Amino acid sequence: MSATDETEKPDEEAALQLDAAGNLRHLLTLKGLDKALLTDILDDAERYLTLPGTLPARSQSLAGRTVANLFFEPSTRTRASFDLAGKRLGADVLNLDVNTSSRKKGESILDTIYTLEAMQVDVMVVRDASAGVPANIARNVQEHVCILNAGEAEVSHPTQGLLDLLTIRQHKRSFSDLKVAIVGDIRHSRVAMSASQGLATLGIGELRLISPPSLAPDPESLPGAVILDNLDEGLADADVVMALRIQRERIGNLEGIPAIDQYFANFGISEERLKIAAPDVIVMHPGPMNRGIEIESVVADGPRSVITQQVTNGVAVRMAVLDRVSRIMTAR
Ligand code: CP
Repeated sequence: MSATDETEKPDEEAALQLDAAGNLRHLLTLKGLDKALLTDILDDAERYLTLPGTLPARSQSLAGRTVANLFFEPSTRTRASFDLAGKRLGADVLNLDVNTSSRKKGESILDTIYTLEAMQVDVMVVRDASAGVPANIARNVQEHVCILNAGEAEVSHPTQGLLDLLTIRQHKRSFSDLKVAIVGDIRHSRVAMSASQGLATLGIGELRLISPPSLAPDPESLPGAVILDNLDEGLADADVVMALRIQRERIGNLEGIPAIDQYFANFGISEERLKIAAPDVIVMHPGPMNRGIEIESVVADGPRSVITQQVTNGVAVRMAVLDRVSRIMTAR
């Protein structure tokens, strides 16, 4: 049976990630996690941040545990930061090279998982192009194994959502009166989904999702968000602007997608376009960036950019999540 045969409904998936006492057992989606838990994870992550140029935070909270990174889609930031996060917590970290693994010989993803379980892997960090894969793995692993979603199709990227929330909180502190503009290919973006879910839980003032009509989200997937196709409307007085790349790998037919020049002219985040945002606007991008398409280089590298801070926060957030699920393992 393929791991995608039993795609779960989002509410079932949300329930799957908490144990009977409400503790985080798997991290599959931010949907369904309450404000107190999200805030606790962000607080934990902040404790793992150290000043630039100083040594990174370390602990031995995962000593003796094994974390496996299983990335069935490309990644730089998420994979490297889970690798560093596990090592900085004292875990053994296995980075499975998917291209030379037995999946290339037709082994199912669940057989790969069972094989790693038999080697006493405790945490599996999974990125996959198909919706439902992390949840299906979570339903099939032994009770002591934790599954962390590191990017699931266009559906969910919960640790990215957490690092985005942390970055916003570091600059804005209060979410309740914030205007956040997410710009780009919203329809195919798991980053937009997780950020929107987390921001809704934390009680954001206004969430604007701006894209060409061909890349607009299903309004039912993100209730409460204002969906726009005009960048100036979306950027007016915005406190936070998040630029997204076009997820070409998820778009079968590129018909209706604007050409690069046209896209940058209408939806690119440039110094000029940012003039109508709030004076202290911060500019985010999850990476990888396509400079000159969704964001101008001078903005990406400029004083309002918090893009490298997002990367730094990614390690801290992943340490916080790994530490949290390891507490449940220890309690068993
Ligand atoms: N933001 C993000 O998921 O980046 P990677 O694809 O490099 O992991």
